[in-house]
Amino acid sequence: MNAAERPSHRAIPAHERLIVALDCAGPEDARQLVRTLGDAVGFYKVGLELFCRDGAFSLVRELRDAGHQVFLDLKLFDIPATVAAAVRNVRTHGARFVTVHASRRVLEAACAEQDDLGVLAVTVLTSFDAVDLQDLGYPPTVTAEDLVLQRAHTALAAGCAGVVASPLEARRIRAAVGDGLAIVTPGIRPAGTAGEDDQRRVATPRAAFEAGADYIVVGRPIRTAPDPRAAALAIQETIAAHF
Ligand code: C5P
Repeated sequence: MNAAERPSHRAIPAHERLIVALDCAGPEDARQLVRTLGDAVGFYKVGLELFCRDGAFSLVRELRDAGHQVFLDLKLFDIPATVAAAVRNVRTHGARFVTVHASRRVLEAACAEQDDLGVLAVTVLTSFDAVDLQDLGYPPTVTAEDLVLQRAHTALAAGCAGVVASPLEARRIRAAVGDGLAIVTPGIRPAGTAGEDDQRRVATPRAAFEAGADYIVVGRPIRTAPDPRAAALAIQETIAAHF
């Protein structure tokens, strides 16, 4: 399926706009969280923590068989041929998205292997602030937002399904690329405050969608809530009110 044939992210059911990160110690903990959330959540992200355990792909297939959408947050980054081969292998699992770091030739190679599985370009991690960028060698004049915008243009040109960025950049990405890319935003904190953990560029669910996000990714604010299902339902109510 090419980009033109893929279903528009503007027509996503409201219920699928919340993606819950299954950052769990192992597949059994993830299954328990999925059972707890029940019908409050229809889209799950499986990431590095689970992929470093046995059984992650069995879990992915179970989620698909149960009717959930799945996002494989593998954050692939290697030479173009290796990333292309990895995308070809993971597209057999019936997932909706896979993440690839936003480097032009790597994205182009990954996108050539897209099918029903869409490639999301990771722009600048939402845990990064100005100090992290300088540690990577960027001059102080280069902001996270500048880099995100540049990488969003690269993702669009490469044919990606979307980008992963913080909600703080969503408005500028939307203005720059229109509906050409799905905008997926982690860094969601229902209280809207940064500095409580490793995330730095954060916003509330409502602010993310007002800025133009298509999907939000939420992990700890749901997983560690006293009542995870109630926390997920509260976010779903915000989403339903917005769309
Ligand atoms: O717990 P929290 O809500 O911070 O989880 C955010 C999730 O989104 C984590 O699984 C993290 O790996 C992922 N993510 C991110 N920033 C990106 C890409 C993915 O936080 N740029």
